[in-house]
Amino acid sequence: MARSRQPLIAGNWKMNGLRADALALARGVAEGVKQAGWTDREVLVCPPATLLMAVAEAVKGSGVLVGGQDCHSNASGAHTGDISAEMLRDAGASHVIVGHSERRTDCGETDATVRAKAEAAWRAGLLPIVCIGETLAEREAGRTLQVLETQIKGSVPAGATAAKLVVAYEPVWAIGTGKTPTVAEVAAVHAHIRKILGGLMPDANVVRLLYGGSVKGSNAGELLAAGDVDGALVGGASLKADEFLAIAKAA
Ligand code: PGA
Repeated sequence: MARSRQPLIAGNWKMNGLRADALALARGVAEGVKQAGWTDREVLVCPPATLLMAVAEAVKGSGVLVGGQDCHSNASGAHTGDISAEMLRDAGASHVIVGHSERRTDCGETDATVRAKAEAAWRAGLLPIVCIGETLAEREAGRTLQVLETQIKGSVPAGATAAKLVVAYEPVWAIGTGKTPTVAEVAAVHAHIRKILGGLMPDANVVRLLYGGSVKGSNAGELLAAGDVDGALVGGASLKADEFLAIAKAA
């Protein structure tokens, strides 16, 4: 189990990667992590579900962790096209991202859906990374903190503890845009998130809070050094082993 607030650098490959490229990427990350020999941080890759087993096999023994990008809330059944948390676990995953803004938007996922998925992750023995974040319109309307509070209260299941939960703050307007909040803004929002979580769990002071949205090698150092930031959820920059390793190094 991860130590208290041990940095977690998570790569979300999204819907990218055919077998050859994905395995080369996985091997590149595995090689870099093995060489670095980090014991003070965790590195996670979340490939598309079709590649989970192959990636898990490719990174075996390197210390690189593997996760899913989503799961269904049920363990099995008549849900064509869906994948359960148990299946992810069976394929070699230890983590699962739930409630990413792309799924909230593309698939109409609500806080209640996300919460059920986080509970499914627990049921299957996976660590859920619950994503929250405001849109540009919400930010411009000055509603960021209020939106995050609603998402946290709706998406984090009862019974959460620091060992069973990771929260990723990803401002929707920062995802894939090259824009990020300032370091001071990230620190302030993360402090607020930790405070809200304090009302829901006994040890929110040590729960890991990741920042996500246009993290790359060149800005990772300052973003990861911000108060209350315990790692990063990385999209585009996780598709290049060198760039992703540079972020992990900055942690
Ligand atoms: P990005 O995506 O790093 O490409 O901005 C982050 C995410 O969506 O997790």
